[in-house]
Amino acid sequence: MHNPNTFYITTPIYYPSDKLHIGHTYCTVATDAMARYKRLKGMEVMFLTGTDEHGQKIEDKAAETGVTPKAYVDQIVTGERGVLDLWKLMNISNDRFIRTTDSYHEKAVQQIFKQLYDQGDIYKGKYVGKYCKPCESFWTETQLKDGKCPDCGREVVDAEEEAYFFKLSKYADRIQDLLENTDFLLPRSRVHEMVNNFIKPGLEDLCVSRTSFQWGIPVDFDPGHVVYVWIDALSNYITALGYGNDAYHDYDKFWPADVHFVGKEIVRFHSIIWPAILMALNLPLPKRIFGHGWLLLDGGKMSKSKGNVVDPYVLAEQFGVDALRFFLMRTFPFGSDGNFSNELLIQTINTDLANDLGNLVSRTTAMVDKYFGGSLPAEQRYHGEMDDELIAMASGLRDKYEEAMEQYAPHKALDEVFKVIQRANKYIDENTPWTLAKNPDDLPRLAKVLYHLLEATRICGILLLPFMPERMEKLFAQIGAGPEVQTWESAARWASLPACVTVCRGESLFPRVDMDAALAALEQVAQASNPQAAPAVELEPWVEDPVDFDTFCKSDFRVVKVKDCVPVKKSKKLLCFTLDDGSGIDRQILSGIAMYYKPEELIGKTLVAIINLPPRKMMGLDSCGMLISAVHKMEGEERLNLLMLDDAIPAGAKLC
Ligand code: ME8
Repeated sequence: MHNPNTFYITTPIYYPSDKLHIGHTYCTVATDAMARYKRLKGMEVMFLTGTDEHGQKIEDKAAETGVTPKAYVDQIVTGERGVLDLWKLMNISNDRFIRTTDSYHEKAVQQIFKQLYDQGDIYKGKYVGKYCKPCESFWTETQLKDGKCPDCGREVVDAEEEAYFFKLSKYADRIQDLLENTDFLLPRSRVHEMVNNFIKPGLEDLCVSRTSFQWGIPVDFDPGHVVYVWIDALSNYITALGYGNDAYHDYDKFWPADVHFVGKEIVRFHSIIWPAILMALNLPLPKRIFGHGWLLLDGGKMSKSKGNVVDPYVLAEQFGVDALRFFLMRTFPFGSDGNFSNELLIQTINTDLANDLGNLVSRTTAMVDKYFGGSLPAEQRYHGEMDDELIAMASGLRDKYEEAMEQYAPHKALDEVFKVIQRANKYIDENTPWTLAKNPDDLPRLAKVLYHLLEATRICGILLLPFMPERMEKLFAQIGAGPEVQTWESAARWASLPACVTVCRGESLFPRVDMDAALAALEQVAQASNPQAAPAVELEPWVEDPVDFDTFCKSDFRVVKVKDCVPVKKSKKLLCFTLDDGSGIDRQILSGIAMYYKPEELIGKTLVAIINLPPRKMMGLDSCGMLISAVHKMEGEERLNLLMLDDAIPAGAKLC
């Protein structure tokens, strides 16, 4: 019997084929905030994350680096600044970490595979696809790029491979019903995509084994086959609880999962394939799949090649872990894509954290210090109507926050918290404590105003705990809130702080960030750790000898249009150009640039030529002038670019 006081939440298990970036961090931080929120409410939480360590890509990467696949993934998962280090740095409170190379998982997957085979849900067939011989990779038609291998760009051939298939098609109707008639998959917008794009066109059976690579869990009853991706990866959610193994014993307690948080591109696997596997195993389905959006960089999905500034280590070290966690959850609506930028990160820190929250805490504690020596007096005076709005907002905040969190909308929950913080700052301006402080008769009122501010701050602090656990501990210490008034229950109980509360001013919780300096520092880090982002350019040495002006003016540079361009026979280097130089008579120039340009791509282009050089014979042909190009070396390699002008400039125009 499932216990209503338990909560099982998971992140996708990450491919450790490269270091994790801020996009991966986004989902893990969201899961962590949700897990912490449920614990705050008193639930017994199981938060699982891990790594998905098999597959061709990892086998290939390991081979490139000259190590075994296991050594390769070990280094990325457990090595310095690896996955485990990153989650530690980001204060991720996962209860369990699964690696799909853990032996208990491998054995359980073999058992699941065998059971599905024995009962006829897995059968042996032929995988037909496109094969790239040099890469030894199978591709589907849709994965090809311009009909060629998406990895190396070479030709692919039709090929087939013996493989096992899972009877996904058998479960199509039940899955359609599950998606359309329940809240199994959220946000709802993703349901239409799944049903219309994948189920309605007809679900095909799923290829679940491969023989073309070895780095996978062996199919124990058929040597040569390894389990291919999804039965291995998805099963982690149950094997990590002890399903099919003795390493853990929490399956009965936590399964079915309350929610799997997953990125939008793997919603398909979680909302179609995963329930089908569970149906075949006759196991309960997870209660919910929530598909979050992507963090985009310059409008596109993040990738390693975009540079180091999306390295979560760099951002956390520069701005603080909690500021980064907060930014991720506050800025991007969880179900949609969002555009990441360093500017936005800095703006959010400055506006929400430094200005609104940081100032509220520092102004309030400074005033308690200044006007009351750090401890509020018991004598406080209450003026109902002036305080009602703040008290009502802060007292009602927990319910609104809870409603948003239960809908997996952390951005909305944070929005509610910040409405109260902003209201509290306004309350300071309305009550002008500095004026009250001037009149001894107003001191009881001043004490009450400051008490209200501390209370509002305390309630917000509790609700921010799941997002900024470390900074909120500091906040509580500064406003004098002990553990008994940091609880979920006390977040809905106004006036929980003792009247004679003692504050303890401390370091600024969220220092303001200097935008220009911070951006420059990030740029420097990016350059230092990603030199390929700005490859070294080698230039020709500068000519020291001056050229006299009259001599220079004798050079006749003209705009020319390429009428025709053909390779010169028997020459690897030369192209022969027929040019319109505006004179009405075609000009022929030979240029040794065949290794940089294909002749046909130059026809019609507007170029620059010096035309009063004496004619030269090359390979038996006259060359009357020289085309102007820019040359440099990059990464030791000679590069050449013809000088090309706007086509609106007429042939014959003189350059001066
Ligand atoms: O998909 N923004 O692993 P993975 C937001 N091993 N999320 C992002 C992102 C971005 N820019 N880039 C990646 C896998 N992600 C499988 C999962 S689960 C049984 C197996 C998210 O390392 C992505 O959407 O490629 C996915 O949810 C997660 O990071 C892991 O991606």
